[in-house]
Amino acid sequence: MVEVSPKGTVAYEVVDRIAWVRFNRPDKRNCMSPTLNREMKDVLDRLEFDPEVGVLVLSGEGTSWSAGMDLQEYFRDVEKEGLAGVRKAQRESYGWWRRLRWYQKPTIAMVNGWCFGGGYGPLLGCDLAFAANEAQFGLSEINWGILPGGGATKVAAELLSFRRSMYHAMTGEMVDGAKAAEWGLVNESAPLAQLKDRVTQVANILLGKNPVALKATKDAMRRVREMTYDNAEDYLLRAQEAAFYYDGEGRKEGLRQFLDEKSYKPGLGAYDLNKTKV
Ligand code: COA
Repeated sequence: MVEVSPKGTVAYEVVDRIAWVRFNRPDKRNCMSPTLNREMKDVLDRLEFDPEVGVLVLSGEGTSWSAGMDLQEYFRDVEKEGLAGVRKAQRESYGWWRRLRWYQKPTIAMVNGWCFGGGYGPLLGCDLAFAANEAQFGLSEINWGILPGGGATKVAAELLSFRRSMYHAMTGEMVDGAKAAEWGLVNESAPLAQLKDRVTQVANILLGKNPVALKATKDAMRRVREMTYDNAEDYLLRAQEAAFYYDGEGRKEGLRQFLDEKSYKPGLGAYDLNKTKV
């Protein structure tokens, strides 16, 4: 059953352990207003530890994923409230993108259409990203006279080569889903008509993995990017040991099914989670 946030800016439903969350302002191309930012945070809170949810997919209602920040409500209206209003709106938007980056469950961006500017925040926030070939990505800020703030510059620098990120930000030219995949903004692209099937397939792969190991893995992959090799080595052994605190048995079960039961091969797929209680 589709649930809608009180002011209607976010819609979501949970089907077979996948939470399908949608930006829900299609008439405004899903641009992010302060209301949407608050409601998205509440929806993320509501789903994060829901035992019925194993993977979260973020997509957009209508023709857009998100047309970035709401130029009226996020910029013009909020600026009338002075610095306190501006900072509050920033905290709310950056806040839910940060929540996504460190979310308990694996997350997938399913980019069905336009993705501009501020949209790059939640794009990087999601662990994986799949786009429609028809989707269009752009750092449009330069076109209306600002730099790509709100983390968008960092996202481009993080995901793209120096020359590509520089060109992308300085020209404001869009790239379509196929080129976004070639550039590494997203993992893959597919025709829009097949996008949901492909994302469902990937979500189901994730649902078959040990959830404690998945959370440890995704956090580690983000953390080690900024560490020296030695620091990463140290972080990883501590993160591994910390994961045992929440799941002491999963790894033993994985070993048991391979070494004793010989019922699967780790190189070819995951052990059977149903035989153990993680
Ligand atoms: N902020 C505020 N309103 C926005 C918006 C945004 N980022 N993006 C779209 N809208 C509004 C339009 O003003 C319009 O409102 P109206 O119907 O009340 O006039 C409505 O959404 C539909 O937009 P429209 O431009 O007619 O749709 P389109 O399909 O022809 O074009 C875009 C889609 C995304 C290319 C175009 O809306 C656009 O360029 N939006 C701004 C993108 C941007 O620079 N975002 C800011 C990044 S920080």
